[in-house]
Amino acid sequence: MPKLKLITFGCQANDLDSERITGLLLREGFTLTEQEEEADLILLNTCAIREKAEHKVYSRLGSFQALKRQRAGLKIGVCGCVAQQEGQALLNRFPYLDFVVGPGQLTAIPPLLAGATRGVETARAPGYSYPVNAPVQRRSGIRAWVSIMEGCDRFCTFCVVPFTRGRERSRPAQDIIEEIRGLKRQGYREVTLLGQTVNSYGSKLTPPISFVELLRHIDQLVGEYMRIRFTSPHPSDVTVELADAIAELPSLCEQIHLPVQSGSDRILHRMKRGYNRDEYLEKVALLRARAPEIAITTDIIVGFPGETEEDFRATLDLMQEVGFDSAFIFKYSPRPHTEAERMPDQLPEEVQGRWLEQALALLNRLSLERNRSYIGRTVEVLVNLEEAKGDSGRHTGRTRQNKIVHFAGEGVADGSLASVAITGATPLYLQGELVC
Ligand code: SAH
Ligand code: SF4
Ligand code: F3S
Repeated sequence: MPKLKLITFGCQANDLDSERITGLLLREGFTLTEQEEEADLILLNTCAIREKAEHKVYSRLGSFQALKRQRAGLKIGVCGCVAQQEGQALLNRFPYLDFVVGPGQLTAIPPLLAGATRGVETARAPGYSYPVNAPVQRRSGIRAWVSIMEGCDRFCTFCVVPFTRGRERSRPAQDIIEEIRGLKRQGYREVTLLGQTVNSYGSKLTPPISFVELLRHIDQLVGEYMRIRFTSPHPSDVTVELADAIAELPSLCEQIHLPVQSGSDRILHRMKRGYNRDEYLEKVALLRARAPEIAITTDIIVGFPGETEEDFRATLDLMQEVGFDSAFIFKYSPRPHTEAERMPDQLPEEVQGRWLEQALALLNRLSLERNRSYIGRTVEVLVNLEEAKGDSGRHTGRTRQNKIVHFAGEGVADGSLASVAITGATPLYLQGELVC
């Protein structure tokens, strides 16, 4: 049987695409291998969000040249966002590359493999791309990604996603419900709904349906049996209805990843994020008023073109004002096709690096403070032994707020719910003892 080595970079959308690619290729008779040396097919599922991510792909591809010479019949393919961005240019640059497939064309992989010539498949169909009956080979039997939309219409000036993933396309609600019904039947305990601006779901479907309506349908189906999360929502589309749904629906977890990017109005405007600082803070206040238990995490970019020390201070100040539970903080990186790439006032790496360190130091303090507030409380943990990383006698899991908990105790099964008394905290996780 031919062997597949699949290497995945990037976000949850790519993780799910890799599970789809695996499903498609197992159906073609492939088995999986971890070893590049014994693979008959090496696939790179790539990310283009920052320059570094893209470079990783090229250096990895470079390392396959010798392998290709040694191993007759070895095929190498590139999928994902770099594939979409670069297309034919990748085949030109890497003569030993066999095919290039964009993220909206996964089902083209088996026919491309069968073909004798090198190929590029980056055309996009107008609707949602992955057929409802096509396979998904998930890595976990407990937690699943479920895509509800593809693409993005927002064109933030720093972001490559609208170019790599195309315009926003929502998946029919019935298909989503069917997939989740199947996951429930198989014993899954958690579903994370995926989309680049997940809460703008459905407005372009006929008939239109809102994200919150979809959440309510899903909740009726899964009730307390499953935990539902979603990522990433856009702040502009956070509504009273969404805040109420988080507060009311038993399945919907008290957690939101709400990317702010900057605390400076001037920078938010140049980013074309569509909200200002006060509007973001109002959304946070709304969520906390309706769902006081909610944990709020975010994404932040430092060193955007033209950002001044004062703008950066405004970001630190906003971080403090919100008191984020956690955050991903990135140095701005210029991306092809984007407006920000063409802005004249790009900042030196040295300034970006200094700001990144300062922001991370503040985040560390804020996360520790938030996590310490759980000490003395008993929380419900969905046990996740995968995250335990071989630390025997310790278990790990996640709270409804998506906080990682390390706890001692015997005999808890992966995927079960456990009550854990929290006794300690670090910026990255909580520590506790099993109660029952
Ligand atoms: N759809 C999500 C973001 C997806 S990209 C949203 O709108 O919130 C994930 C994160 O990568 C972004 O939130 C942003 O913080 C970061 N990012 C995107 N483009 C970037 C760039 N050019 N340089 C640095 N960070 C970037
Ligand atoms: Fe990128 Fe902005 Fe769309 Fe998020 S909302 S994917 S940051 S363009
Ligand atoms: Fe990267 Fe594409 Fe996701 S650029 S972050 S893999 S949408």
